[in-house]
Amino acid sequence: MDIICNNIDYQYNKGTKFATYALKKVSLTIKEGEFFGIIGHTGSGKSTFIQHLNALIPIQSGQITIGDYNLFFEPTKKRESKKQKKRMKSKLKDLRRTVGMVFQYPEYQLFADTVKEDVSFAIKNFMPETSEAEVEILTKNAIEMVGLNYFEIKDKSPFEISGGQKRRVAIAGVLAARPQILVLDEPCAGLDPKGKNELWQLLHRLHRDVIKTIIIVSHDMNDVANHCTSSAIFDHGVLKKVGTPKQLFSDQALITECGLEVPVTAYLTNELSKNGIVLDTDFTTDDFCVKLANAIKNQK
Ligand SMILES: Nc1ncnc2c1ncn2[C@@H]1O[C@H](COP(=O)(O)OP(=O)(O)OP(=O)(O)O)[C@@H](O)[C@H]1O
Ligand SMILES: [Mg+2]
Repeated sequence: MDIICNNIDYQYNKGTKFATYALKKVSLTIKEGEFFGIIGHTGSGKSTFIQHLNALIPIQSGQITIGDYNLFFEPTKKRESKKQKKRMKSKLKDLRRTVGMVFQYPEYQLFADTVKEDVSFAIKNFMPETSEAEVEILTKNAIEMVGLNYFEIKDKSPFEISGGQKRRVAIAGVLAARPQILVLDEPCAGLDPKGKNELWQLLHRLHRDVIKTIIIVSHDMNDVANHCTSSAIFDHGVLKKVGTPKQLFSDQALITECGLEVPVTAYLTNELSKNGIVLDTDFTTDDFCVKLANAIKNQK
């Protein structure tokens, strides 16, 4: 299912003297199948935007369509019937199950006594009719999906496992509800290079096998160049440009204007072109190296 956002405005503390515009007239379509990046300087509106996608932040103005879900501003009705309230709640639950949200440092949200209990929480919450046996199967699947050994880890406290394992357990907790869209806010924040690499491999495996669309917020343009199919650049709440890494990072002036730096591959491509070596690269490290090696060979 595609995500279609139309004219999304959002102000924190709306209607007070502390009102701050976090999003301004954002219109953006994210196609099913994308590994989509949300980039922008700090405070540019990235987290505010993604929290609209599963209605954690209610829409103030504009509209979002995600498959059959239609999100728009709804004034709170004083006289809503019990039936209407129940229907709304159930629809919201469905949406939150469909669009899984992994917050920044998700391991801080682990709370249960055991890993198994923590991961199964989402299943019990979103699918209360699921039998105990089925819950166990879904929990095991989710834990294995993130590359952990179920029998080794299931009875451990989430507080006695490593940082990398905690993050995987937290992601498993979101995957357990079988979302179709997975949104992750800075998934690699605070990880060492090995942990980061492993997490990227995990996300690509999930994207290939179980999750149709992945959306990540990232501050690291090298990661975006290497992993995202397309990205959107936010600047002070405004959506500046959407495109492939090649389209975005070729526009060095725009990237600088938005307070960001181009990935190393784009910087080197630009510098090499000033010296007469023109590389037609997509800015992934692999492609850049191949194109550079070819250019060197051709010069000999
Ligand atoms: N709870 C809040 N109350 C008031 N203003 C807020 C709140 N959360 C965010 N803002 C403001 O909204 C704007 C957008 O914030 P947001 O958190 O969406 O940015 P971001 O791009 O995710 O930043 P970062 O890269 O630092 O995580 C900023 O000006 C921020 O100060
Ligand atoms: Mg943020």
